[in-house]
Amino acid sequence: MDIRQLPIGVFDSGVGGLTVLRALHARLPHEALLYLGDMARLPYGSKSPHTVSRYARQAAEVLVKRGIKLLVVACNTASALALEDLRAAFPQIPVIGVLEPGAAAACAATRSGRIAVIATESTVRGGAYERAIHALLPAAAVRAAACPLFVALAEEGWHDGPVVEAVAQRYLKPLFADARPDVLVLGCTHFPVLASAIAKVAGPETTLVDSAHTTAEAVAEMLATFDLAAEPSSKPSVHFISTDSPERFARVAEGFLPHTLRPLEVELIDL
Ligand code: DGL
Repeated sequence: MDIRQLPIGVFDSGVGGLTVLRALHARLPHEALLYLGDMARLPYGSKSPHTVSRYARQAAEVLVKRGIKLLVVACNTASALALEDLRAAFPQIPVIGVLEPGAAAACAATRSGRIAVIATESTVRGGAYERAIHALLPAAAVRAAACPLFVALAEEGWHDGPVVEAVAQRYLKPLFADARPDVLVLGCTHFPVLASAIAKVAGPETTLVDSAHTTAEAVAEMLATFDLAAEPSSKPSVHFISTDSPERFARVAEGFLPHTLRPLEVELIDL
């Protein structure tokens, strides 16, 4: 079997990782993609590192067993808390998280060196973004804030409007109180769908950075390095798996994908 024809495995705690899947599909249109959303156990963002690692490993195991050539951890929380565990558990497969590409994009975009990060509670508590940014830009001044309500708003399909802006005001105010950051990292896979409301509150002098495109770029590089890229003639396919309600997965996914998804197109599994 030609390993290059295997799909790229992508997982997230839910549908938020579809922002990464979209970027992967746009950057690598010949690649087959296998996406798992762990809807049954969402959110990961309020769970302990031990639990997130256990969930991430179980989700990754399903994809690895089905046969994938590379694993993308399309969840910031799992990237922050479980990446090393996953690399150790599956040494035969390259594993890429979204956090380092996001940190690299932030460091490339900042002029003042003042960077703000918004993410889930567990991602912020672990300090992984600060470490990744400081590894690239030791003098950077990094502030981070947990914005758990953004996940609920994104899932609910409330992507803009006064409610989202009011929540954004409340969350961003302390981050922008003095010595304004010039870069705001959307350090959670759900946040890019709220980008226009967040940008309105953050103001025009703030650059919003999300890791979807930089992650897709990192995946493209990795495929080239390991000679894993599919033939340009390959017919791409995307297969969706959910650990709970395909109906809900398909409905919420509509806010994250450019096309509609029918529940029948989502495979239900138990972990
Ligand atoms: N996927 C998670 C992340 O990117 C957000 C949703 C959750 O808390 O599970 O951090």
